Amino acid sequence: MYDWLNALPKAELHLHLEGSLEPELLFALAARNKIALPWNDVEALRGAYAFNNLQEFLDLYYQGADVLRTEQDFYDLTWAYLQKCKAQNVIHTEPFFDPQTHTDRGIPFEVVLGGIRQALKDGQQQLGISSGLILSFLRHLPEDEAFKTLEQARPFRDAFIAVGLDSSEMGHPPSKFQRVFDKARSEGYLSVAHAGEEGPPEYIWEALDLLKIQRIDHGVRAIEDERLMQRIIDEQIPLTVCPLSNTKLRVFEDMRQHNILEMLDRGVKVTVNSDDPAYFGGYVSENFAALHDSLGMTREQAQRLAQNSLDARLA
Ligand code: ADE
Ligand code: ZN
Repeated sequence: MYDWLNALPKAELHLHLEGSLEPELLFALAARNKIALPWNDVEALRGAYAFNNLQEFLDLYYQGADVLRTEQDFYDLTWAYLQKCKAQNVIHTEPFFDPQTHTDRGIPFEVVLGGIRQALKDGQQQLGISSGLILSFLRHLPEDEAFKTLEQARPFRDAFIAVGLDSSEMGHPPSKFQRVFDKARSEGYLSVAHAGEEGPPEYIWEALDLLKIQRIDHGVRAIEDERLMQRIIDEQIPLTVCPLSNTKLRVFEDMRQHNILEMLDRGVKVTVNSDDPAYFGGYVSENFAALHDSLGMTREQAQRLAQNSLDARLA
């Protein structure tokens, strides 16, 4: 079954490049850039990957991203992720990156983008993996900062398919970013947003009605609102669900409580994704395997999930 799941052709639609930074590469980049780390070794760092909620993870994720300094670092990060895609028959990927995590540390936007973009180009040419990059705004920062990021992206407009919204969800509703999403839309960007991961169904309504997104990232809390469920079924709005992430961040205490297959069987266009695979214990295939192990996912369900991911592409 695992080999069969691995061989299924699929797309990944919810992946933070910074979250694919494996501890081994993190240590290698720290050495290359002469950065002292607070962990003695890779095992000690892995040992720190125990989270009670989204914020505890984000604190470590931003700390980890600090080893990324040069264009080559961003290339190596992206290339390592694409190798995983190749090994798991991910034939198309739409990764996020968070420019502000880097520009706020003094790394120029074009350094970050240069490395990522070259790796994605090589991924297409050498590995046959197609992609579309998503520029994600950090929602714990003010909307003004997101406007500045959109401005920095202007000379590279053709590098992106969409804008996104991530980081700390609670207290930072989509409505906070309505103006910058309006601006992005006027410049031809499509849009997605994290909503209903930890936040309430109201945040999903806002993401749909105010940000006018094409896809909901996570969205698992939609199940608490029957009218919202009907809408996402009727309009076939895709949800990029991340099962291992949800259990690692305790959105669900146990994989056996996860609602992805219930949503699938009710007609929601759900997809399987890895979110931050280096931190959550696996890439797309490991997420599929967890659904098989804990929820008894059948081959037919797996096929529908994989087909949904191919259908829900923006690029
Ligand atoms: N940034 C990286 N992973 C994230 C997640 N799961 N939710 C919100 N922001 C994130
Ligand atoms: Zn995410």
